[in-house]
Amino acid sequence: VKTIGVLTSGGDAPGMNAAIRAVVRTALAEGVNVKGIRRGYMGLLEEDIYDMDSKSVSDIIQRGGTILYTARCPEFMKPEYQEKGAEICKKHGIDGLVVIGGDGSFRGARDLAKRGVNTVCLPGTIDLDIACTDYTIGFDTAVNTAMQTIDKVRDTSTSHERCSIIEVMGRKAGYIALWCGIANGAEDILIAERYDYNEEVIIDKIKKGRKAGRKHYIIINAEGIGDSYGMAERIEKATGMETRATIIGHAQRGGSPTVRDRVYASAMGGMAVDLLIKGATNRVIAYKNDKFVDYDIDEALSMTKDIDQHLFDLAKKLAGNF
Ligand code: F6P
Repeated sequence: VKTIGVLTSGGDAPGMNAAIRAVVRTALAEGVNVKGIRRGYMGLLEEDIYDMDSKSVSDIIQRGGTILYTARCPEFMKPEYQEKGAEICKKHGIDGLVVIGGDGSFRGARDLAKRGVNTVCLPGTIDLDIACTDYTIGFDTAVNTAMQTIDKVRDTSTSHERCSIIEVMGRKAGYIALWCGIANGAEDILIAERYDYNEEVIIDKIKKGRKAGRKHYIIINAEGIGDSYGMAERIEKATGMETRATIIGHAQRGGSPTVRDRVYASAMGGMAVDLLIKGATNRVIAYKNDKFVDYDIDEALSMTKDIDQHLFDLAKKLAGNF
């Protein structure tokens, strides 16, 4: 491999910059050129491609977001655009491509691999919803940001003796909600994977909790369930306890990456370059059973995963609603 391209695609995630930096510096150390592709597959189709050197990635490891920008590119699902993307890679001498993103981005990499561009993907998403891996770049930072924000909401919730419904990101996945539910000591956690939402039951618990002297009632609601404002109105009406909804939103996607996100993203970036140098293609790097491993993209996309039932059961017990 002579020239490696690198792009970030889909929602950004803290740690993506660390991964880009590792790709660039590992490749340069091995005598391989690197080209940055801006705005994911969109930028590839627009040929928004530039040469990267060691300085291009100076001073970015500590920064959230992605210096390559990112985009979602629905056109890339069509074969004619995949063909065009592969031709553009060839035109720019890109014979290896590192794609940092989620499942949708992996599909684009698979379609390019079929057209002769060697591709290796890194799992980059705050949602942790990639089946082949126990770790995704950005989850650790995002869940820490959510946890810290929920602690703050809890302070004011306690002072005002309120119920707070706090909605966290995750698309359809409840990992951020479940982890925060445990880390923040929430009274209730609502996640789509174990949909057992019953407003009457919650209302009853809040009433009992108030009688027992609880000063607040924190409900962590996964984005996949939503309707936090509606819930707040109905709960306040039924319990008489002042209730507020807080949607943390995109704050969870930004910020300086945690040490774990910096180190694991760096390890994955370096591994992607090593694999491309060895001639590998159509691969996804994953973190499984405490090891960095790689899978065929199709195999990775066919895998499924579920939230940890033990953690979920534990969270329910720790909420202490007996
Ligand atoms: O996939 C990351 C994520 O932040 C999800 O948690 C969320 O559902 C979605 O992206 C939001 O996307 P957008 O930034 O396009 O609104």
